Amino acid sequence: MSLCAKTKRWLKANGDISLAGKTVLVTGANSGVGFKTSEVAVYLGARVILACRNTVKAAAARDSLLKDYPDADIRIMRLDMASLKSVAAFVKELKETGTDIHAFVNNAGTFAPPGGKTADGFDPVMGTNYIGVYYLTELALPYLAGLSHKVVYINTVSVAVMAAKPIDYSDFYCLKKPGHFTVYARSKLCLAKYTFALAKRMNGSGVQVFMSHPGITITPLTLNACGKWGKRLSAVAGKLFNSTEKSSLALAYILARHPLEGSQVGPHLLFNCYGYPRINRLPKKAQTGAEELIDFTEKEIERIHIE
Ligand SMILES: NC(=O)c1ccc[n+]([C@@H]2O[C@H](COP(=O)([O-])OP(=O)(O)OC[C@H]3O[C@@H](n4cnc5c(N)ncnc54)[C@H](OP(=O)(O)O)[C@@H]3O)[C@@H](O)[C@H]2O)c1
Repeated sequence: MSLCAKTKRWLKANGDISLAGKTVLVTGANSGVGFKTSEVAVYLGARVILACRNTVKAAAARDSLLKDYPDADIRIMRLDMASLKSVAAFVKELKETGTDIHAFVNNAGTFAPPGGKTADGFDPVMGTNYIGVYYLTELALPYLAGLSHKVVYINTVSVAVMAAKPIDYSDFYCLKKPGHFTVYARSKLCLAKYTFALAKRMNGSGVQVFMSHPGITITPLTLNACGKWGKRLSAVAGKLFNSTEKSSLALAYILARHPLEGSQVGPHLLFNCYGYPRINRLPKKAQTGAEELIDFTEKEIERIHIE
């Protein structure tokens, strides 16, 4: 199903940008916000790379896009954010193939996946939503900064950051099991702290760093978060919450409006849960304390021998 008329009007009103000749890479692109972000990029004329852990799901997503955009140039790359080895192999492939990238959207994320720990022994939510993104970013940045043009780099955070409790490093190893939402919110707080510091570090380089958040929209992730209520909700909830399409316009907003680096972009109504994207103020707690967190993360990654 192609983009709705309202989205097309919004895109036109927001600069009518063309991404012809540009490449957009989206992680977790087979579903939800990542799929729709990829569709928006294809609609605007970009070549798109779907970076997914499940290549069968990725192929289905590509086929679905090709039905509506038969001339689209869509490539699939394998990437499992819960495995540092997979992240390293992915970045190696990017470099070895000299892949050109103009916008890189770190969208993949998880709420309460089944299974105990990641391949590297981390809590699966912390490991996927924060450590995987941190490692991917640090490995990919030197390559992206060396490209001959500017690159927009977006990490996907969440409205949950507003409710996040202070970081507890025991979350990284599932030691206390404080509850799914607590760990999810803290994983996104870690990502927001890191990304805010990163944007400052990269300011003036060829890589412009931003944060996006989708507000609240019904996707497999949110249905999973609702537990047994998920299936009942899905019938009506799509209408009550932001449409996934509206929640997927942050990349287009950033490319059209050029907000200040380090800005957080996402829906702005009803406590940032609903509406079209705008710049949202990042909670104070996400603007401080990155040094200790980064130090801890670096040591944890060093501890793991990645071949
Ligand atoms: N939906 C919301 O209301 C909401 C609110 C705030 C923030 N977010 C954030 O928005 C992003 C997209 O979520 P969504 O709502 O669109 O959920 P979704 O439809 O479930 O999509 C999540 C995507 O991430 C992928 N993924 C999960 N674990 C992965 C891993 N280890 N390696 C690679 N890919 C992995 C999933 O792949 P599989 O299909 O293989 O599982 C899927 O493609 C996430 O970062 C989420 O935290 C969503």
